[in-house]
Amino acid sequence: MSRPATLTILQQNLTKNLVQVRNLSDKSRIWACVKAGGYGHGIDSAIRGFSEADGLALLEIEEAYEARHLGWNKPLLLLEGVFNERELEEAENLKLEMVIHNEDQLDWCLNFKGHLTGIWIKINSGMNRLGFNTQTMSKNKLKKISDNLNLLRKKVINKNGLRWLTHFASADQPNGCQIPSNIFQISLEHLNYIPGELISLSNSSALVCSPENNSDWVRPGILLYGSPSSNKPNSEIEKVLKSLLPTQTLSTEIVGIQSIRKNEYVGYGTAYKSNSSIRVGVAAIGYADGYPRSAQSGTPILVGNKKCNLIGVVSMDLITIDLTNCPDAKIGTPVECWGNSVSAIEIAQASNRLCYELFTGVTARVRRTIIAT
Ligand SMILES: Cc1ncc(COP(=O)(O)O)c(C=O)c1O
Repeated sequence: MSRPATLTILQQNLTKNLVQVRNLSDKSRIWACVKAGGYGHGIDSAIRGFSEADGLALLEIEEAYEARHLGWNKPLLLLEGVFNERELEEAENLKLEMVIHNEDQLDWCLNFKGHLTGIWIKINSGMNRLGFNTQTMSKNKLKKISDNLNLLRKKVINKNGLRWLTHFASADQPNGCQIPSNIFQISLEHLNYIPGELISLSNSSALVCSPENNSDWVRPGILLYGSPSSNKPNSEIEKVLKSLLPTQTLSTEIVGIQSIRKNEYVGYGTAYKSNSSIRVGVAAIGYADGYPRSAQSGTPILVGNKKCNLIGVVSMDLITIDLTNCPDAKIGTPVECWGNSVSAIEIAQASNRLCYELFTGVTARVRRTIIAT
C-alpha cells in the first residue's frame, strides 16, 4: 500500500461556498480568485467548483490556458497583468482581461498591435504593493499617465472603456477600507475616470466588513475556500464562516504506536516530556507534506473519530500524537489533520500560520483525490 497522506478536495463545497458568498453582494459580479492553483485546491477543481462564478481571477497565463482548455468561456482576469510584452499576444488569444499596475505595462499595451480584451487600472490606495500611486505623482506625471490612459481607452475592445480596481490591506479591521477607498476615489478623479467605467474593490474581508465597497465586481478568495483571512476573525466574519463549508481535508493514518512511561521524551529534541505513561500514535504526515512544522504540542488532530493532541515537534515525514482520548487506535486508524472535524483555522492558530499558507503549502508528494459535484 502506498503512503496514506492524502489531500481530498471537496469540490461540491467550493460550489456551495460560492452561493453563500454571492448572497453577501448579490448585485456584484464575482471574480472567484483561483490563483496559486485555486489556493492549493488544484486549478481544475477550482474551475469546476466555481463554474457559476462570473469570472476567474488568476495570475499565470498557464492557468488561463488550463481554464480555457477545461471549457471556461467566461471572463478571466490576470490579477498582476502580463509579466512581459510577449505575453500580450497570448493574452489576446486567450481573451484575457488584465490588470495594468505600472507604466511599463501601460506602454506595452499602447504599443501592442493586437486586441486588448479588458484593462483594469490598479490604484495603490495605501497598501504600497502594486498600483499607480497618484498621491506622490507630480502634476506632469499625472498628466502623462492620464493622457496615456485616454489613448488606451480608445484601444480596448470592450464597450465601457477602462476598468478600475484596488486591493485593501486591512479590510477586516474597523474602518480598514475607509482611507483606501477615499484614496481610490481621489485617484479616479486625478486619472480622469469616466463615470460608468467598471470598478472592483472588495476581497473576502471587505465583502463582509465593508459592503459599501461591493461595486461592479468583487474578488473573493479565501472565503470561497471556507476560511477567514486572519486567525482572529471579527464577529461579522465569524458569522459568515458558520455558513461556509470546508473545501479540503488533509488526512493520513497511524503507522506506528509506542507505549511510553512517565518522564520520557517524544520526537526530536526534548520538546515534549510525558507526564504519565501514555500511548503515542505516529502518523504519516510531516512538514515535507505541508503540515506546519510550527504546530505546537496541543494542536488538535482527529484520530478515528476522537479529538487528540499533537505532541513533540513535527518532523519531515511523521508527527506524534497523544492517544489518551483514543484507546482503540491501531496501525491504519485514520487521522484527519484538518478538514471536516478539525478546521483549518484551528491548525493555523496553533501553528501561527494563515489558512492561505496551509492550503497552498500542501506539497506535491501528497496524493490528491477529488470528490466532485
Ligand atoms: C488583487 C487581489 N484581489 C483579491 C484577492 C483575494 O483576497 P482574499 O483571498 O483575501 O479574498 C487577492 C488575494 O491575495 C488579491 O491579491
